[in-house]
Amino acid sequence: MRGLGRMISLLLLPALILCGCSGTGNNSKQSGQEEEAASGKEKGYITVGFSEVGSESDWRRAHTKSFKEAFSAENGYDLLFEDAQQKQENQLKAIRNFILQEVDYIILDPIVETGWDAVLQEAKDAGIPVILVDRFADISDPELYTCWVGSDFYKEGQRAGEWLENYLEDRGLDEKEIHIVTLQGTLGSTAQIGRTEGFDQILQQHENWVMLEQQSGDFVQAKGEEIMEYFLDTYDDIDVVISENDNMTFGAVDAIHAAGQTCGPNGDIVMISFDATHAALESMLNGEVHADFECNPLLGVMASEVIQKLEKGESVEKIQYVEEQYFDFSMDLRKIIEERGY
Ligand code: AHR
Repeated sequence: MRGLGRMISLLLLPALILCGCSGTGNNSKQSGQEEEAASGKEKGYITVGFSEVGSESDWRRAHTKSFKEAFSAENGYDLLFEDAQQKQENQLKAIRNFILQEVDYIILDPIVETGWDAVLQEAKDAGIPVILVDRFADISDPELYTCWVGSDFYKEGQRAGEWLENYLEDRGLDEKEIHIVTLQGTLGSTAQIGRTEGFDQILQQHENWVMLEQQSGDFVQAKGEEIMEYFLDTYDDIDVVISENDNMTFGAVDAIHAAGQTCGPNGDIVMISFDATHAALESMLNGEVHADFECNPLLGVMASEVIQKLEKGESVEKIQYVEEQYFDFSMDLRKIIEERGY
């Protein structure tokens, strides 16, 4: 909380909203945002600059929506939203603009883990707390960020490996040579590093599991399809595909069908995915995917709770994991899909 002034203005907030004086800014023009940041402050909103990764996947769109909802004018926020289009240089620029605009908080979902020290030092020097969400940043000084909220990507990868272990064992295939390919996410992102390393940890325990190749599809459907086509052209004995997000899975399923092959519980190839979005669970129901390891995109409310605590001068947990589960073809998917929020 930056003073009594905002508290007084907050009391006037409902009246301002009724007057139609909303200060929520979603455009990417800096001058417009500067005006909005200034007017948001005058109205007593908490101004938050959010640098989002991009709009590369269904998961990402649900994530963005959850922040726009949680950081609405109705909730007392002026959100300055920047889509980095999967480019770190855009995120660095956005953060520097947020600093210039003297926002109250910066929320950063770092595309990759490295390269943040200098810009976060600038935010710290300007006295702006930085909250990391979803992906992590490998920062030398932990004082450069207030806290991080997100998924345990390593555990997701490990769980996927354990699931495959049980699946093969149940079918008496635990001694057979198993050929695996991996569609990786954006290289250097926490989601890619965690899932790859978590799965690899289980892979190392099985001499008969052979990783044929790992390649990045950047979490994008079209690239997932392209790489899967290459895998199918290169290897004629793929047993398992580990796809590090649902959109790459959709691309891979298309490539497999186009090659005249099948995947899913009644097909030729075991398909394992991450995210567990609505569309992917439907694809599982259609018999195309074996198992999907959830990555919860609804982090907006958690980030807002952090800011509300900081506003009251309360301390916050430095590392906050969200609860996650997994789904497979043996479950009652119709009911799960009905209740799925994203
Ligand atoms: O960082 C989370 C990952 O990024 C999600 O798994 C993926 O779908 C998104 O693009």
